[in-house]
Amino acid sequence: MRDQIINYSYLIAAVLFMLGLKKLSSPATARNGNRLSMLGMTIAIIATLFKQEIVSFNLIVIGVVTGSVIGAVTAKKVKMTAMPEMVAIFNGFGGGASALVAISVYHRLTPNFESFLLIALLLSVIIGAITFTGSVIAFGKLHGIVSGSPIVYTGQQVVNGMLGIVMVALVVGVFIVPADLKVFYGIFTLALVLGVLFVIPIGGADMPVVISLLNSYSGVAVSMTGFVLNNNALIIVGSMVGAAGLFLTMIMCKAMNRSLANVLFGAFGAVKEGAVAVGSTVTGAVKSYTIEDAFIILENAESLIIVPGYGMAAAHAQHAVRELADLLEGKGVEVRYAIHPVAGRMPGHMNVLLAEADVPYDKLFAMEEINDDFPHTDVALVIGANDVVNPAAKNNPGSPIYGMPVLNVEEAKTVIVLKRSMNPGFAGIENELFLMDNTMMIFGDAKQTLHDIISHLKD
Ligand code: TAP
Repeated sequence: MRDQIINYSYLIAAVLFMLGLKKLSSPATARNGNRLSMLGMTIAIIATLFKQEIVSFNLIVIGVVTGSVIGAVTAKKVKMTAMPEMVAIFNGFGGGASALVAISVYHRLTPNFESFLLIALLLSVIIGAITFTGSVIAFGKLHGIVSGSPIVYTGQQVVNGMLGIVMVALVVGVFIVPADLKVFYGIFTLALVLGVLFVIPIGGADMPVVISLLNSYSGVAVSMTGFVLNNNALIIVGSMVGAAGLFLTMIMCKAMNRSLANVLFGAFGAVKEGAVAVGSTVTGAVKSYTIEDAFIILENAESLIIVPGYGMAAAHAQHAVRELADLLEGKGVEVRYAIHPVAGRMPGHMNVLLAEADVPYDKLFAMEEINDDFPHTDVALVIGANDVVNPAAKNNPGSPIYGMPVLNVEEAKTVIVLKRSMNPGFAGIENELFLMDNTMMIFGDAKQTLHDIISHLKD
């Protein structure tokens, strides 16, 4: 009876997680999605506390209090821009916890394992440990503690491949002699090393994709731990995290028009600054304009599409963007925002920053919703975006970003681009948009430039 009630509670929790995940797909419903998932997690935790296997509550209370304090304090303190790091380290803790639980079960049951249990246990240890150290390195890269450049050396793939073979040999060893602690801990240690080796060759800017993949791994590790503990909640939740993380990874890769293999083994961040795409058709001269020029164009516009990119995040310009939009709307200009799926450096980067500046959700349009509207728009204001507005993705087959869907800003009557120099963006390639006849380049820090335009408008 008790087990049945617990399992029904897990079922309710699982439904709440699914609804929560569904609601997370839109900024307007994301908060409620989070609340539903929190409720699901609370139900799952309370149900678990009624399990008969629990011997003492002392350690559980200590764990819950310590974890809650650390979680609450870090969540309160973390800056919006440091979200990817926090997600990375939390994924790592999830993987590490799964591995530790599996290790404790190993000690409890050794040497009497059924094969299925041993497989689940080893997968939990291996995937959990890889997720832990991989996530710690991803955190370090984003936090600047570890070099953000890809760390590559000759024969790297061969070394990794050989370590993979050693891992397979050790796993076979555990099946032959399950009680051999040296072999078991050899697997755990090697998995920790593989986690580091897996992430160091990947450039800092590709970390969001890696973090999403590690998130998926942490889910698989949790799911395996569910099989080890015979816990349905862990199996369901782990599978959901595993699948959701994998989908997000694939969505990001698709939006960048890169394969997962290219992200993992392509050392993309190593591309030299200023590199020109093969077969680049970029010709013409850059025309630098003044704040006054931009002010006149904006004041006389009837419709404006703002295109934010990584530079808006780097300049912390989101509040200035909102202020400019408010002023222009006050003068009768129709203002909308075009959001590219991989603008910035993490999924939803632009949505999060614009939400922080209280830009209404209904003014934000996904690329496919707004891309056809540029020809009927007076001004496209590109704020620190580069790759996501690069026409080379459409018309230069030699470009590294060829095939990546981009925003058609060049089709607007006038394009105003705010950036500091002619430096390329993440992909390291030139952008012919900046040389087009209808493009006005205004060089300078995006926030400062916006403040200057705002002062003119107020005057
Ligand atoms: P980018 O192409 O990276 O360009 C950003 C531009 O911002 C740069 O050209 C830079 O030019 C400018 N900038 C930097 N600081 C600035 C400041 N303070 N004021 C004004 N401008 C500033 O950005 P994007 O168009 O958003 O594209 C994102 C790129 O990241 C894509 O290639 C995408 O594939 C990649 N990526 C995205 C993600 C996710 S999930 N979003 C994950 C991994 C990779 P200056 O230096 O001349 O100012």
